[in-house]
Amino acid sequence: MRLPFGTIAVSKKSRKLINTALDTLKLSSGRLVREFEAGFAGHIGTKEAVAVSTGTDADILALAVLHDFGARRGDEVILPALSFVATGNAVLHAGFKPVFVDVERHTLNIDPKKIERAITPKTRAIMPVHLMGKPADMDAINKIAKKHKLFVVEDAAEAHGAVYKGRNVGTLGDMAAYSLYIAHIITTIEGGIVTTDRPDFAEVLRSLRSHGRACKCRVCVVNTCDAYCEKRFKYGEGSDIRFVFERIGYSCKMNELEAAVGLGSLDTYKKIIAKRRANLLSMIAKFKKFEPWLTTIKEEKHEQIGPHAFAIILGEKAPFTRNELGLYLEKNGIETRHLFSSMPTQCPGFAYLGGKLGDFPNAEYIGNKGLHIGVHQDLGPRHVDYFIRKTEEFLKGKGLF
Ligand SMILES: Cc1ncc(COP(=O)(O)O)c(C=O)c1O
Repeated sequence: MRLPFGTIAVSKKSRKLINTALDTLKLSSGRLVREFEAGFAGHIGTKEAVAVSTGTDADILALAVLHDFGARRGDEVILPALSFVATGNAVLHAGFKPVFVDVERHTLNIDPKKIERAITPKTRAIMPVHLMGKPADMDAINKIAKKHKLFVVEDAAEAHGAVYKGRNVGTLGDMAAYSLYIAHIITTIEGGIVTTDRPDFAEVLRSLRSHGRACKCRVCVVNTCDAYCEKRFKYGEGSDIRFVFERIGYSCKMNELEAAVGLGSLDTYKKIIAKRRANLLSMIAKFKKFEPWLTTIKEEKHEQIGPHAFAIILGEKAPFTRNELGLYLEKNGIETRHLFSSMPTQCPGFAYLGGKLGDFPNAEYIGNKGLHIGVHQDLGPRHVDYFIRKTEEFLKGKGLF
């Protein structure tokens, strides 16, 4: 049996839209991207959604917006030490200094009790990550942000379908950034999207994804209707709005073929979430018997974990390594991924910032002892049972079960 980490289905509707786009040669960002943005905003429950090339771009742009709202280059953004490396990279690419805070071991998320001591006069934003779809403690984070007048940008890359105290993750801060990469729940193959309730943020996001140009209309008449743009020469003789660059920008638009895949993916969202959540909750329940050698995250009463993947964390006294378990699962057809690492102290790329091993004990622990596996919609009860059986076999082989 095989349990791949991710899967993708391209629906009939997507194929039809792709073929129409190919036939009409309308391929660059246009009508389908606008339709996908409206659909995604509707799903999450925000007024605006701005689609980009990757989840990393979504993180970068959501932060780069802040330069139009009082932030300066070199200001600080607080983020968890443990995340996929894209979160830390994005802070740097947006022109900010990352200030890392350790995570809680049992939630994998930023420890709100440690945030205030990381705040300085240069802090502009907090960027919580809802790792493995488990919502960060947004009430505590928003309270701190309000007190210190900081922006909150959610990294919701892994949090499609996550709910915190009755509200969708992605609506809980000033902006949220999603990945639409192939292994995620709503996918455009490669892709990302920023959600927000603030039209002024969305305007700047639209400018940033297109080189920082002065064009920021929600629907571009040139790209969607082949029409003449009334605003194009409003900057006066000799200027053209498409060549007026108001801010330092990026080049990360989504294209029509990606949006076509995304529109099909939106239609199947509820079914996919239900299947993935059934797999996740069943794995969480069945995994309990492996404590204290192996643990995972728990779903608490106030939340629904977004079913991105299943986390496996070795207990402190486990007499085997993460890679021994990983290899055993891989040999039995179960694809595994490490559960990331402490960006400042376990990722060589960040070493120049001066972090030292031991600074972020919980993130480093997970970095050494964490794995995750897929819970996707092509898996079902027999795959879950197979995974549990193989894990049991591994522990029995170690004389632990
Ligand atoms: C927490 C987190 N942030 C950001 C990203 C970046 O997304 P992408 O791979 O679409 O650039 C990912 C990727 O999965 C992620 O897990």
